[in-house]
Amino acid sequence: MPASTPDRGRTELIIGAQWGDEGKGKIVDLLGEKADLVARYQGGHNAGHTVKFGDETFILHLVPTGILRPDTTCVIGNGVVVDPSALLKETAELEARGIDIGGRIKISRYAHLIMPWHTLLESCLENSEGCAKIGTTGRGIGPAYADKIYRRGLRMEDLLDPRRMEKKAASLAGEHNRVLTRAFGAQGAMLEDILPVLYRFRERFAGCIVDTAGLLNSAIAAGKRVLIEGAQGALLDVDFGTYPFVTSSNTTIGGVSTGLGLSLRKVDTVIGIIKAYTTRVGNGPFPTELTGATGELLREAGYEYGATTGRPRRCGWFDGVAARYSMMLNDVDTLALTKLDVLDGLDEIRICTAYTVRGEQVNDWVDVCAFWDEAEPVYETMPGWKRPIGEVRRFTDLPAETQAYVKRLQEVAGVEFSWVSVGPKRSETIVM
Ligand code: IMP
Repeated sequence: MPASTPDRGRTELIIGAQWGDEGKGKIVDLLGEKADLVARYQGGHNAGHTVKFGDETFILHLVPTGILRPDTTCVIGNGVVVDPSALLKETAELEARGIDIGGRIKISRYAHLIMPWHTLLESCLENSEGCAKIGTTGRGIGPAYADKIYRRGLRMEDLLDPRRMEKKAASLAGEHNRVLTRAFGAQGAMLEDILPVLYRFRERFAGCIVDTAGLLNSAIAAGKRVLIEGAQGALLDVDFGTYPFVTSSNTTIGGVSTGLGLSLRKVDTVIGIIKAYTTRVGNGPFPTELTGATGELLREAGYEYGATTGRPRRCGWFDGVAARYSMMLNDVDTLALTKLDVLDGLDEIRICTAYTVRGEQVNDWVDVCAFWDEAEPVYETMPGWKRPIGEVRRFTDLPAETQAYVKRLQEVAGVEFSWVSVGPKRSETIVM
């Protein structure tokens, strides 16, 4: 890992290397111990980061995981889309569980709001004939980002002036409601329901709406440690993922710069999070998917149900081709391997190391994606270890078969593991 320089804070980026749900929450929480600030740069409350300590389980959607450490400042960057009701609800729930939030959340002036018309529009589009059904989380993420790019979104800074907020909300509601009612025959969003939420949000968070780019850059210049928390995963990136079955933001490293106003030169270390097998939720290509009993076993052992929607996740073997693509896109320095213990019960485990397409071997993910319905995974099969590993804390104490599997994953991905997670708790981690 690159060394930090004494006059600069160490800035670490945590990024999901698959289709999300790699277990980023636990690793962000672990590394967050030393961070002064934890920042989110993209996505919204479509994310669900699960953190366990002691008997407590927290699922964070929009609030950066740093909120669970009392002295950490949490930044919601301009690249995030914020549903005001969702943030009010999530923070109220955290406070009810004894988490002191106060003014620790800082929200970018330029972050866009997800409004009820976005959620309504998404539901119409997902259910309309002729549109690819993405299998979204239904949180209004895509339409909110679409409005941002279309230059007609409501931004946090609009809330600072109530007259401007009301005027803009009324005009946007009118515009969207015309589409909802006339094009889709659906119900529009009611302004009289929306304004009270915006006023409540203003009351609670107006003091937290700041220039987060300036805040982060000054913090780094002052030697503070910043942890940047990715949501979703590289293969859901709107440009580089399995388009159109992706989320609507740049989940990969480039999103950090545009989503926080932070030069990539300020990121010292890129930490990828990768699961010992693969999952995805929603529609789209997944060539190593297991649709039978083994997939079911992984789902139950790994509790592979969406942390946000509760949907069962599709499960499959580790995809080394996808992993290498992710390593390249994000220039990953080191990896955390998660959920290794989920494989405890398997007789044998497979790793996809390449594909064949029309009889030819294919090693690059972009070529697999171009023909994903014809791509056949090339597997290596390794023996399982058939015993629980959750208590193990040293790599060399793992069964020989487990060690061999981890080493092979490392070779296939081409990046070394710094942590291996053998259970959901902070303590259930092997530091390599
Ligand atoms: P959206 O982000 O709600 O628009 O959903 C687009 C795609 O991204 C769908 O396949 C979702 O299931 C997937 N997705 C969004 N957020 C997450 C996440 O946090 N974990 C895993 N998949 C996600």
